[in-house]
Amino acid sequence: MSRVAYVNGAYLPLRSASVSIMDRGLQFADSIYEVWAIRGGRLFDVDAHMARLQRSLAELRIAPPMNVASLMAVMRETMRRNRVTDGIIYVQVSRGAANRDHVFPALGTKPTLIVTAKNLDRNAIAKRAATGIKVTSAPETRWQRRDIKSVNLLPNVLARQGAKEKGAFEAWFVDENGLVTEGTSSNAWIVDAKGVLRTRELSFDILHGVTRGAVLKLAQERQMQIEERPFTIEEAQAAREAFITAASNAATAVVEIDGVRIGDGNPGPVTEALRAAYLGA
Ligand code: PDD
Repeated sequence: MSRVAYVNGAYLPLRSASVSIMDRGLQFADSIYEVWAIRGGRLFDVDAHMARLQRSLAELRIAPPMNVASLMAVMRETMRRNRVTDGIIYVQVSRGAANRDHVFPALGTKPTLIVTAKNLDRNAIAKRAATGIKVTSAPETRWQRRDIKSVNLLPNVLARQGAKEKGAFEAWFVDENGLVTEGTSSNAWIVDAKGVLRTRELSFDILHGVTRGAVLKLAQERQMQIEERPFTIEEAQAAREAFITAASNAATAVVEIDGVRIGDGNPGPVTEALRAAYLGA
């Protein structure tokens, strides 16, 4: 089956779908995006991702391309046309196409809207969760508004490629104070040596992960001991457990950080419990 994309009002074969070379997403990364997971035909955390998309647009003063109900309808139609039951839906909105100029284009310039959807390999995701992933650390080199889900992802791309070349799945950024901010496309967590569940507090320093929020709520409901406080790589290496959260990976165990094994090298009980709770929620 050939894939279909929605671009600026039309559903087109992915191969022929395109935007202008003057699109500000291409010229300046003047663009935001959002990713929803679909499992068993069900969209996860639908409203929270939509709210973050609206917030990203507002923070960058990009006009919403359509109202929320219409965007939801386009997303569902894109899912349907691509027969997606287990995968992701991707939405990107740029400030539109205009003559290249750093200053915002004329008022009324139409934002560019792209919607794609694809199935992911369920077995690969399950295997990753069952064995756990390896993480490497990388210096934090991103801009200072990481709470905005912009397509300005070059540092993430470079760090992720660096991780891959070292045989790891994800890289954790470490800030100038030696504290982990988050992963290149996930939030970072540990169950520290004292058994406290820890993840960095919300600020401009990290993306306010929707999965992070959902998992935190589940942990609170289970009366786990929680601290929203950053940790160092050394603390993570000495932790009982470590894991990542992201739409496409739910909660997935980290079993090695910079070559150091975490716990007994297998996904731990807290990670497993939170993953099961999240997927069953
Ligand atoms: N990434 N931190 C960063 C930098 C991210 O890019 C993501 C998501 C997250 C986790 O957020 P959430 O739980 O809302 O998915 C944290 C998406 C999935 C991506 O880039 O594909």
